Amino acid sequence: MPIESGNCIMCGIVGIVGKKHAEKIILSGLGRLEYRGYDSAGLFVSNDDTQHLVKSQGRIKNLEEKITKDINGTIGIGHTRWATHGKPSERNAHPQTSSDHRLVLVHNGVIENFEEIQKEYLADDHFDGETDTEIVVHLISALMAKESLSTKAAFKKALSLIRGSYAFALVDTQDKETIYVAKNKSPLLIGLGEGFNVICSDAIAMLDQTSHFVEIADGEMVTVTACAIHIEDEKGNLVYRESYEAQLDLNDIEKGAYPFYMLKEIDEQPAVMRRLISDYSDEKKQVTINDSLLQQISACDRLYIIACGTSYNAGCAAKNVLETMTQIPVEIHLSSEFSYNMPLLSKKPFFIFLSQSGETADSRQVLVQINHFDFPSLTITNVAGSTLSREAKHTLLLHAGPEIAVASTKAYTAQIAVLAILAKAIGKNKGIDASIDFDVFGELSIIAAAMEAVINEKGTISQLAKDHLKHTRNAFYIGRGNDYNVSLEASLKLKEISYIQTEGFAAGELKHGTIALIEEKTPVFGIITNGKTSAHTRGNLKEVESRGADTIVIASASLAKETDAVILPEVHPLLTSLVSVIPTQLIAYFACLQRGYDVDKPRNLAKSVTVE
Ligand code: F6R
Repeated sequence: MPIESGNCIMCGIVGIVGKKHAEKIILSGLGRLEYRGYDSAGLFVSNDDTQHLVKSQGRIKNLEEKITKDINGTIGIGHTRWATHGKPSERNAHPQTSSDHRLVLVHNGVIENFEEIQKEYLADDHFDGETDTEIVVHLISALMAKESLSTKAAFKKALSLIRGSYAFALVDTQDKETIYVAKNKSPLLIGLGEGFNVICSDAIAMLDQTSHFVEIADGEMVTVTACAIHIEDEKGNLVYRESYEAQLDLNDIEKGAYPFYMLKEIDEQPAVMRRLISDYSDEKKQVTINDSLLQQISACDRLYIIACGTSYNAGCAAKNVLETMTQIPVEIHLSSEFSYNMPLLSKKPFFIFLSQSGETADSRQVLVQINHFDFPSLTITNVAGSTLSREAKHTLLLHAGPEIAVASTKAYTAQIAVLAILAKAIGKNKGIDASIDFDVFGELSIIAAAMEAVINEKGTISQLAKDHLKHTRNAFYIGRGNDYNVSLEASLKLKEISYIQTEGFAAGELKHGTIALIEEKTPVFGIITNGKTSAHTRGNLKEVESRGADTIVIASASLAKETDAVILPEVHPLLTSLVSVIPTQLIAYFACLQRGYDVDKPRNLAKSVTVE
């Protein structure tokens, strides 16, 4: 069977030692980590008398169905997988075991030198699956047998031999009291309980067990038992690290009465705007962003925003407000393009990494490169302590609360809002006139109310999705300027959860080629929030209408016509995207429901994209 590298790039890991019904805790933790991957899952649990390894293809609920009453334990590890190579199958699901089934391992990451390891150490081994994880667990077993090493020593030696990214949790079935863990570039935390300890890829997985967590640094190995954790660095020195209290509320990560996280997260956006106002302002309503960051940005001659997907779209939507307020030219780049085709940089660049998760590998690749040149950088992220946050010189948080639906909504609007607040602060620092009069917090407060008004139009928007998107093969969003930027995000949202082939276009560009795609009843959504271009966009809508398209207009109140489908309250002209994006998020949500797909877990996607 050919072994594949990169079999589990995103994936989620949980584990617990020292508490009854480890299987239930693991299942619920895996459920909360499903955003990290959901094509197969597995768990291992053991108590004094029995041990069980259970795996299934597909969602966690499939695994749950296999967990009968006799499957329980006081120690266990679990895994949810998002495959890149190596089919999503039960065989490739984790945990993987050594040939004698003594060692059980879960892994998140990519082993780069798995072929060399296999040739050099495991030439005679037989492998059941197609994963590099299986090679690692065989390697540990081989080192124990050939070099008479203890489990811990063999694990440690294996870590020194492998290259790549990993978070590992290893259990030796002959020792029912210990979980060995290690990490390099993939996330993993230890959670501290009373009489038990847990491990998890993300604190939200174990928040019902503990709110106290200890970070593990890359290259460290940790021995976790019910009453202690021992962290060792690469040289074997014991490391003492304080725990921190996760500032997360269990309610933030539960759906509550909502049918889907995406709807909850769309509805939370006004509250996120208000939280940003309060978290970034002092009692005099001045922006509270640290001075050294403002000085560094003010001294740059160009801002480079590096991001992917929705975060990239948020960067595009914020360019205008940034340039107007700061008078610094802004370039937005897709991380995956920038890292291998770096443009000619200005003399004094400043880099801003936009990332909801703070873990996106494409963006990290750029950050590593620019750190090499010692360029100043800022990460704007929703996750404190994430990789991009740790590795950039500065961090600003989105304060959006955990975003669990794979389709990003509240992070997009939070990113634009934080960039607007930053723009105001830099502009003020530089004494730019436009920014002096820009009451960013007042504007965000108006925007929060406007968002609420649009969110209250769910009935109308749901009907639009039913009328235009239930059966269509493709759809288009068009707009100009900021409305074009929102069209990009609107089309990404619609395509990723409804699987309708959707494109966002600069309205004026349609006639230069794309109009050829318009057929009878093709839905074309026009976004109109700018008086300077509204007549042109309406003209472009007429052009497609005369070729058979169904046109649907989302327009600001002052520019709206009676026949328009969604009317948006007026907000600051540089920040219209914060409001015009809301109906498009809801359109995507209702279209997905109409077509009968899983809103929160679209096919082929995962929330945190830690593969290049
Ligand atoms: C789409 C979506 C993705 C992410 C992209 C970057 O709804 O969520 O396009 O925006 O994968 O992720 P972050 O922002 O975590 O770097």
